[in-house]
Amino acid sequence: MRATIPPTSPLDRLGETASLPVGTAGHWHAYRPFPNLPGRNDRQGTLEVPLLVRALGLPRGGRILELGCGRGIALPVLHRLLHPTRLVGIDMDVRALTEARERASAAATPVELLHGDARCMPLADRSFDLVLDFGTCYHISYPELALREVARVLAPGGILVEETRISQLLSHPLRSFGRRIPWRRVSGLRRARWRVLWSAYVTTAELAFG
Ligand SMILES: C[S@@+](CC[C@H](N)C(=O)[O-])C[C@H]1O[C@@H](n2cnc3c(N)ncnc32)[C@H](O)[C@@H]1O
Repeated sequence: MRATIPPTSPLDRLGETASLPVGTAGHWHAYRPFPNLPGRNDRQGTLEVPLLVRALGLPRGGRILELGCGRGIALPVLHRLLHPTRLVGIDMDVRALTEARERASAAATPVELLHGDARCMPLADRSFDLVLDFGTCYHISYPELALREVARVLAPGGILVEETRISQLLSHPLRSFGRRIPWRRVSGLRRARWRVLWSAYVTTAELAFG
């Protein structure tokens, strides 16, 4: 048996007709949260984000969006290192967003925190220069929808940074096993840099990296 997606689903918004395997409405949002590990959070803030900014040579300034920003560990670090003109984090978890708000406030980081689905974002076309995803697309259903949304909200020459499959397997071996991003089903993004743990994709309209 298959269930039809309700009219308000992101698939409809993206102009697709499709049906989902039965699993009910809850299936659409199925997502198993990760535990809150302070050691892992510290490592992300002090080590991983600074290293990826350097390894990929990310540009300063510009409008930055983090998909699945969760508790907002990366946001103050991105603000400090990249001096964005606009910084936005989106997540489906209200409690995580509350924590992110407190963390941003403690660090005096100006950020817009949105409660929403990465697969159907309340954000204008071509409104960001850099989108970062620290693994969210690996762990949600229909990740191609989130990536199409990323391609939509990125300005020409915009960059998507994602953690690679290697990174996912190292951090969450059991949970990531067999999971892949269906890049072939996503148009508008092309891989431009690969640095083992992180990759940068650019919008195909205009390459940001030489
Ligand atoms: C792998 S965690 C990453 C959290 C944080 N960015 C970090 O690096 O610690 C994935 C995050 O994505 C959020 N999430 C799951 N499904 C989502 C969706 N469809 N749209 C937006 N956020 C989602 C979860 O609530 C969680 O905070």
